[in-house]
Order: sequence, then structure tokens, then C-alpha cells
Amino acid sequence: MNYIKLRKNNLCVENILVQKLAKKYQTPFYCYSLSQLKYNFNTLSNAFKTVKPIICFSVKSNANISLLRELKKIGAGADVVSIGELLKAIKAGIKPKKIVFSGIGKTEEEIRLAIKKRVLLINVESENEVDLINKISKEFSRTISIGIRLNPNVTGKTHRKISTGGKDEKFGLSYKDFINLCKKVKKMKNLNLQGISVHIGSQITSVSPFKKVLSVINEIIDKTKIDFNFIDLGGGMGISYSKKEKQINLKQYAKLVNKFIKNKNSRIIFEPGRFIIGNAAILISKIIYIKKSNNKNFVILDAGMNDLMRPALYNAYHQIIPLKKINKIFRGKIEFVGPVCESSDKFLTQKRFSKIKEGDYVAIANVGAYGMSLSSNYNTRPTIAEIMITGSKHKIIKKRQSLANLVNN
Ligand code: LLP
Repeated sequence: MNYIKLRKNNLCVENILVQKLAKKYQTPFYCYSLSQLKYNFNTLSNAFKTVKPIICFSVKSNANISLLRELKKIGAGADVVSIGELLKAIKAGIKPKKIVFSGIGKTEEEIRLAIKKRVLLINVESENEVDLINKISKEFSRTISIGIRLNPNVTGKTHRKISTGGKDEKFGLSYKDFINLCKKVKKMKNLNLQGISVHIGSQITSVSPFKKVLSVINEIIDKTKIDFNFIDLGGGMGISYSKKEKQINLKQYAKLVNKFIKNKNSRIIFEPGRFIIGNAAILISKIIYIKKSNNKNFVILDAGMNDLMRPALYNAYHQIIPLKKINKIFRGKIEFVGPVCESSDKFLTQKRFSKIKEGDYVAIANVGAYGMSLSSNYNTRPTIAEIMITGSKHKIIKKRQSLANLVNN
């Protein structure tokens, strides 16, 4: 189900013409469909209804507090990786008992807060981190629940820069180190080893890497004989960014997980980000100039790589859609670029596009995940507004940063 689509050649988010919004709000801005967000969450939760997982939304993919509040209302927990994300998730109303704290470099301050707030699990990634948590838990005279992140040596068939499950990556512990650490933790009175966690990467569209991961976890369970209360399978479920790319087959994935969990008393945790929020937003931008050069036309947008990093960082494909599609076609090479002073500030190259002119607006698609959350003030450009649509209603859920705020800091 798509809540963001062309209707009679006009791009709409739910019941709203995007053209109308573009005239009302200063561009560039992010625009979210709340119905899409809810639909995606429910799709995931229905697909896995047999195992009733705890779905911890990965806050790094999008940390807007209004969106977190909406997710909380429909039952989401949170996967956080910093003190900021933890506080935000709690502020959004998410109960600490539904929060997992991940990350390889948790500081003492972060661990203390996680313990104080009584999060469900701290997923540790090294022996030294275990020692530090143990020391702090003694001070608190408490027993702290931890999970250990396994590096299963399974790569996710995804972009090199977003793959985390290979043996040379910094994440998790190798099979051998994992087993040794389990033995050590079992002897520690203040630590309660409750979970095993994995996350092999992001934007994974095939279930075969997940199948491999499940079999490595089974080996670990056989070897350690530990009845983990929680098996945290991370996130990584991929979405469709282009016609060529299919989103992950959740039915197949769920089948594997159902089989895997049979005869176990464990509860499954997922940490999805992109699957829930990825296709729930577009970035609206205005064409400032069209500049002809020898062999191509540069369409210079008012959105830049500081607003949306993914194309510059990973060569990521994001479709660009005119807000009003007309039948006249512009042929010839078009390069959509931003105003930032970097040659990598480039969004997309097209060989044909609906005819456009300066002052027109376009939408960059599927930018809900790792869009706003990766944005920056590079070139001293303000962070942009976020607008949320529900049905025929629209509201600002984050204001554009003011120039005063930008300039005085
Ligand atoms: N859990 C852990 C431990 C993670 O490291 C991540 C993402 C997730 C869950 C959520 O993964 P998702 O379901 O969203 O795939 N900036 C990159 C993606 C980096 C992902 C980092 N970790 C991008 O724009 O593609």
C-alpha cells in the first residue's frame, strides 16, 4: 500500500497535493505520511504475529520525537545507540522495558543512564564493556540484564558501507569470543545474561543471509546450552528503492523465524528502522537554476547533500518525481545536484524526465530512513523542516532551524 503517489499526474501524500504544501512551507523540507508509517509497522508486526516479537524501532534511522510518539502508540519499543537516543525514546513515552541499548562504544555515562532507567537489555560488544557494566552494577547493588552481540560472519549482500556481519567488521564478537564471554558472564553475580543479539547490516532484500544467521545462533545455543530469554535479530529488512529492487519477503523470513523459535522459550526482538520509516517520506525541493553545459543539464536544487547524505555517501539511488507530471518530456542528460560545494553533492542522473523549469518543485523519494537523521549544517545551512501528513491534515513536526540559531552558535 502506497500513501505517497501520483494521482491524476499530481503527487499526493495521503489526501494532500504536495504542490500545495510546497507553496505553503519553505523548501526544502521533509514530508512524512503517518498512515504509511503505521501501515509499515503493522505489516511487519502481522508478518511475525506467530512469534509476537518486541519491535524496537531503530531510532538512528529517524529520531523525530513526534514520529517516535506515534510509533509508541502503536506498540513500538526502541533500539537506541546513544544517551541522546535513549532520552528521546523515553521522552516519547516508550517504556524502558521496551528499549534495547546497542553500540560498540557506550561510554560510562551512557551505561549508567541505561542502568538507572532499567532498559530491557544492554547489548554488549566487548569483554571490557562487560567488566565496566559489572563494576557499575555492583555500585548500584543490582543485577543487570545484558545481551551479547554475536558477529556471525555472515555478510548481508548489501552495500559495503552498511554491511556489519562480516568477520573483519568492528561489530560484535566472533563465535569463539562469544562463547568465552558467555562463560565469564555466567560467573558474574551482578550480570544476568539474557540475550544474544545480531545485526548483519542494512537494506538486505534477500532472506538467505538471515537464514544463515539463524543457523549460527542455533549452533551457539547448542554449544553454550544457554536458554536465552531474548534473541535479538537486529534490523536490516530491505525496502524497494527502485523498480529493479524488491523489498524483503517478510513471509519467507517469518517462516524461517517460526521454525527457528519452535521448542525454544525465547522472545524474539527486532530492531527495524528503514522498513518502518524508509518509504514514509519524501524530500520536497525547488529548482533554483537549470544550467546547460556541454553534454548535460544541471538541475540545481535548493536541497543539498547536507539535507540528504545517502546519494553522496553510498551512491544510493533515490527516485526524483516532479510534483506535477506533464506529458512533455525533456530528453538529454539531466543531473540533479544540490548547492553544496562538493562534487559529490549529486542526487541523480536521468536520460529523460518530465519537462521542468526553474521555480518548479520536485520530490526525492523514500527518504524517511537515514534522511533527516544524517543531515548536517555543512556549508552553514540550516537543518530543514519536517512536516507530517495524516489524511487531509498537515503539521510541522520539526521547525526549520532559524538563521539566528545557526549563526549564533
Ligand atoms: N540495529 C543495529 C544494531 C543497527 O546498527 C542498525 C542500523 C539497525 C538495527 C537498523 O537497521 P535497519 O533496519 O534500518 O536496516 N546510514 C545507512 C544505514 C546505516 C545502518 C546502521 N545501523 C543508510 O543510509 O543506508
